[in-house]
Amino acid sequence: MLRLENVHAYYGLSHILHGVSLEVGDREIVSLLGRNGAGKTTTLLAIMGFLEPGPGTITYRDRRIGGLAPYRISRMGVGFVPQERGIFGNLTVEENLTVAARRGSNGAWTLKRIYELFPRLRERAAFRGSKLSGGEQQMLSIARALLLNPDLIILDEPSEGLAPLIVQEILDILLNVRAEGVAVLIVEQNLRAALRIADRHYVLSKGKVCFSGTSEQLNADETILKQHLGV
Ligand SMILES: Nc1ncnc2c1ncn2[C@@H]1O[C@H](COP(=O)(O)OP(=O)(O)OP(=O)(O)O)[C@@H](O)[C@H]1O
Ligand SMILES: [Mg+2]
Repeated sequence: MLRLENVHAYYGLSHILHGVSLEVGDREIVSLLGRNGAGKTTTLLAIMGFLEPGPGTITYRDRRIGGLAPYRISRMGVGFVPQERGIFGNLTVEENLTVAARRGSNGAWTLKRIYELFPRLRERAAFRGSKLSGGEQQMLSIARALLLNPDLIILDEPSEGLAPLIVQEILDILLNVRAEGVAVLIVEQNLRAALRIADRHYVLSKGKVCFSGTSEQLNADETILKQHLGV
């Protein structure tokens, strides 16, 4: 579904990604792990078209998307949940959702289904975005991405700063989303969370992939766990 081949990325003159290759298949959950500054967010920004395209190719459903504008990539079916969540603090939950839905097609994800998947958002429908807890804001951000009816949803550290119970709740939601046929690429620093939901993992270090494999292979690789994941 999504394939990066030998992707390089730069901020001005700093060369950050040095030939990253990775793949996400249909209905797969894939994690992207690595220490602070490893290049995880940069990889997602490159996929979503927020960086000047560098050498390497990025394809989505066999179409090259490198160089396309972010809104075009999202319209092709790639939902993005950024690290800073990107919700409107002075709009209510319901307004945040209807604004997102209007931009999308009238496909499978409706407000009704979103409220079934996120009962907390239904309870908070009239609250302003800024009044939500961190976990609720994260749910709202995921819900907004789903209303664009993506086939792939990309999340940047959705568990960051959240209490373990809320993290569980969000991971369960992502498993439900996958069960509905949506593939997931998730950046995580929380290894346990990644092992809990992802089928396969990539570990980045200094802008390069230093490991790729299944949860079983990752769990068995003590060097990678120690050096790159601080376990
Ligand atoms: N706008 C920018 N300009 C210049 N350098 C940047 C910029 N954003 C990030 N970097 C550098 O790029 C490298 C990779 O950063 P990136 O944000 O991709 O890391 P990350 O793996 O997402 O880390 P974290 O876990 O802290 O979010 C870091 O060395 C960072 O300092
Ligand atoms: Mg980051």
